[in-house]
Formats: sequence, C-alpha cells, structure tokens
Amino acid sequence: MESEAKMIDESGLRIDGRRVDELRPIRIEAGVLKRADGSAYVEWGKNKVLAAVYGPRECHPRHLQNPAKALVQCKYNMIAFSVTDRKRPGPDRRSVEISKIISEALEYVVFTENFPRTSIDVYIEILQANAGTRCAGLTAASVALADAGIPMKDMVPSVAVGKINDQVVLDLCKEEDNYGQADLPVAILPRTGEVLLMQMDGHMTIDEFNRAVEYGVGACEKIYALQKDALRRRYAIEEAEPIDEEPRRERAEMEG
Ligand code: CDP
Repeated sequence: MESEAKMIDESGLRIDGRRVDELRPIRIEAGVLKRADGSAYVEWGKNKVLAAVYGPRECHPRHLQNPAKALVQCKYNMIAFSVTDRKRPGPDRRSVEISKIISEALEYVVFTENFPRTSIDVYIEILQANAGTRCAGLTAASVALADAGIPMKDMVPSVAVGKINDQVVLDLCKEEDNYGQADLPVAILPRTGEVLLMQMDGHMTIDEFNRAVEYGVGACEKIYALQKDALRRRYAIEEAEPIDEEPRRERAEMEG
C-alpha cells in the first residue's frame, strides 16, 4: 500500500462517484449451474464470481476424513484472464491463504457434525477481479451452500472496509485497494454479531477501526438481505413453473 493519490474529492465522493459508506452495486443469483449440488453467481462492482458446491460426499484424500464431522474444503481460484496482467494458472500463496480463511468461515456455519467422514467441496472461481474478491467469494459460496440444501446456522455476508486519504471507506475498489492506507475484509453475521473473518493490511487508529467495523456491520446486513433474496427468487421460480396437466387429464380419462 503506497500513499497517497487524491481519491476523495471536495464533495466527499470517491473515484467511482460513491460516498465513503456506499457499497458497489451487487447482484446475486442462486442455482446457476446444473451439475453442481449448489451454486451462485455474484457480480459486485466489476468483480464477477462463480461458486459451486459439491457434497457432502466421500472425503478425498481419505486421511483427512474426520469420524466426527464433515470437512469443508474451499478452493479459491483466479482464472487467467481475471486480472489485468495474465494470472499464472494454478495455486499460489495468496489463493491458498484465501481458500483457508473461507473454508474456516464456512466450517463455522455448516452443521458439519451431521455429516461425519464426508467432505463438502466449495469451488470459487474469480472470472473478473476488481478488489474484494475474497469477500465476494465468501458471499457467493455461502449462497451456494444454502442452494445445495446443506444445513447451516446462517449465510455469511462479507465486505472489505478500508482507509484512503485518511478517511474510512466501505468496499474498496481496485485503485483504492492498491493505493489506499488500509484494507480490512470482514464477515459479520447480522443475527448474532459473530465475526467469521477479519484480516487487516495497513494501519488505522482505534477510532478509525471502530468506524470501519460499524460500516462493515451495516454493509453485511445489506448483503445478507441480498443473499436471502437470491435464494427466495431461485425457489419462487421453481414454484411458479406451470404444472403440466395433460398427463393427469389423460390418465383420468382412461380410468373413466
Ligand atoms: O481480491 P481481494 O481484495 O480479496 O484480495 P487482494 O489480495 O487484496 O487483491 C486485491 C485485488 O488485486 C484483486 O481483487 C485483484 O483485482 C488484484 N490482483 C491482481 O490484479 N493480480 C493478482 N495476482 C492478485 C490480485
């Protein structure tokens, strides 16, 4: 993080026109993949993220099996054309770290003790990246888990808060992430206030940190509402599908 290009103008607006406490536009869709047990697609500003869930299924590698509970194994991956410079395919330190923190956050909400010895596999593919992809990935993954019908305490909304030009700002975009002073991704459950993810890069005062957490809590509430809405839309469509009355009528006629 280098300082310090001017990224907030005199009227308090950021480079993409947002106020300091404003989220980028977020669109969530559940059940976008036919082959996966559960899936979700998230567009978050210029981020595009796909999450797919498989399982609970037999755990591989087998030595990781836990006789008491399921393992939640997340693989976060940025595809080659998701960033400005081509991303070299395959895992690297960053993707291993992000996979780990997302697995841990999800493991906390899934009732893993219901599925001993199994694995719940979560794949997150970043199709287009513009900062905050771990948060968009976690947000998508928990919708995909719910879409897979996996029993869980709650869905996990997540957002990054940060600091630019000595001001606390919500939901950093790429330029703000690159040239800002701090980046604080969080995941806070709205119903209980539990913190499932908190990382920090850069520096903040205690007051700034408290403000950042306040912004994070407010934003997680909004994202949570979008997650629930995505699931509601997904199942509303299924319910609304017209029932084919023809076979039933034919059968009734045949039976006289
Ligand atoms: O994406 P997130 O903010 O969770 O993680 P980050 O490590 O803080 O990365 C911030 C942003 O840098 C990413 O969202 C990408 O837009 C960009 N990035 C990149 O261009 N090339 C990489 N190899 C890694 C990240």
